[in-house]
Amino acid sequence: MRPKLVAGNWKMQGSLAENQGLLAAVRAGAADLTAQIAICVPFPYLAQARAVLEGSTVAWGAQDVSEHEQGAYTGEVSATMLKDFGCRFVIVGHSERRAMYGDSDIVVAAKFAAALKAGLMPILCVGESLAEREANVTGDVVTRQLDAVIALCGAASVAGAVVAYEPVWAIGTGRTATPAQAQEVHALIRARLGADTTRAQQLQILYGGSVKPGNAGELFGQSDIDGGLIGGASLVAQDFLAICTAAQ
Ligand code: 13P
Repeated sequence: MRPKLVAGNWKMQGSLAENQGLLAAVRAGAADLTAQIAICVPFPYLAQARAVLEGSTVAWGAQDVSEHEQGAYTGEVSATMLKDFGCRFVIVGHSERRAMYGDSDIVVAAKFAAALKAGLMPILCVGESLAEREANVTGDVVTRQLDAVIALCGAASVAGAVVAYEPVWAIGTGRTATPAQAQEVHALIRARLGADTTRAQQLQILYGGSVKPGNAGELFGQSDIDGGLIGGASLVAQDFLAICTAAQ
């Protein structure tokens, strides 16, 4: 049985003052839970996340990483820098980065490779837009996004990481994919990897997109849904912990 993982993605939100209480509450609430829990914070708050979460069951990570190891890349943050701050996870290929910051499939694959090389666990996001779903090309889009990473890093590397299926139309909209819709794409992702590696059954595939305490249990009950990547609800300790509880 695959362990469940619930990861929070704070996006560009928080402040030193606000984070303190939220991190402490998650740390305390997580102590009794069996699901793996992680929080991906903005870069400047990594030191704070480490200070509050170190020695607890909650891991921390970042929301993006440079594809380069080091050098003249103003504004970028390398994977080894993230390791320096004790990160275990890093999100790569979030749809907001693909849509707003030009992260192509090739760049996402390079970021995934950089994360792996530094010993980080990438959370690779894939997912279709509303127009793509309505045009019935969800499978093609998700397969293309996955294949770019498989081509660079190999299927076994992807199967050893974490994939998050996040339909763009469900992110921050309050409109969740139905458990059946999500399960269908999760099964497709696992099957795609299964064509190339025997490790596909071990891959943790998270669902993301308007996961709330009220819908988490049904989503996580699907056979290929191994937890969630949580945006808005990860900013409220009680909601995030309720979602983590649903992943037991
Ligand atoms: P919401 O949970 O706010 O819809 O965000 C999902 C997401 O993008 C997580 O990465």
